[in-house]
Amino acid sequence: MAGEMVAKKKTAKAAKRGKGKAAKRGEEAPAHERFREIAHGEHREVRDILLALYDAFGKRNLKRAKTLHAEFCAHCGPHFRYEEEALHPLLEPIVGKVQVEHLNREHDRAIVDTIYMGRLTSEKRLNADEGRQGQRLVRRILPHVSDCDGLAVMVEKMADADVETILAARQAALKDNIALLEWASETRLRSFRDTYKRDFYATRQQARGFG
Ligand SMILES: [Fe+2]
Ligand SMILES: [Fe+2]
Repeated sequence: MAGEMVAKKKTAKAAKRGKGKAAKRGEEAPAHERFREIAHGEHREVRDILLALYDAFGKRNLKRAKTLHAEFCAHCGPHFRYEEEALHPLLEPIVGKVQVEHLNREHDRAIVDTIYMGRLTSEKRLNADEGRQGQRLVRRILPHVSDCDGLAVMVEKMADADVETILAARQAALKDNIALLEWASETRLRSFRDTYKRDFYATRQQARGFG
């Protein structure tokens, strides 16, 4: 799929960037340096995909929105996976359980919004309301991109060995390369269905005028 190819290429570029400064010195960068550059590169890529998707929904350009949605899923599958399997648990001693639960819920929310965006992009055409709905979904995911990028300041407090563990989990997730929605429904240990149900009932109540 074209979107997945682009996302893979971009991910490879981010990996290269992670070796940049040290490679120039002919040595491998310390784990912290590699992690910071790789994670930041990935968040910039997600940001750009989402901003392009916002634009595509605004112009009701379905073909482009569909491609970007696939790119987003291809990129975020391995990314969310290594964060949940390694980054979040290793952050817990530093930021606490409540913050880790918050991060996981943000992922639940993003997964549910990505399902809704997928429904919109599989329509035959979008009306103005649906275009705006797509834009609202994109804007709801965006804050997590900068929140997640900000975690780098907490990762600085981790031991080198823990950062190596995160980088190894990332390599494993990239190797498996499972797109976001397949990972969320088939491999992910945490269920997003509670979030999905809450959202579904809240929307239904609002539609009936109870919200
Ligand atoms: Fe992230
Ligand atoms: Fe995240």
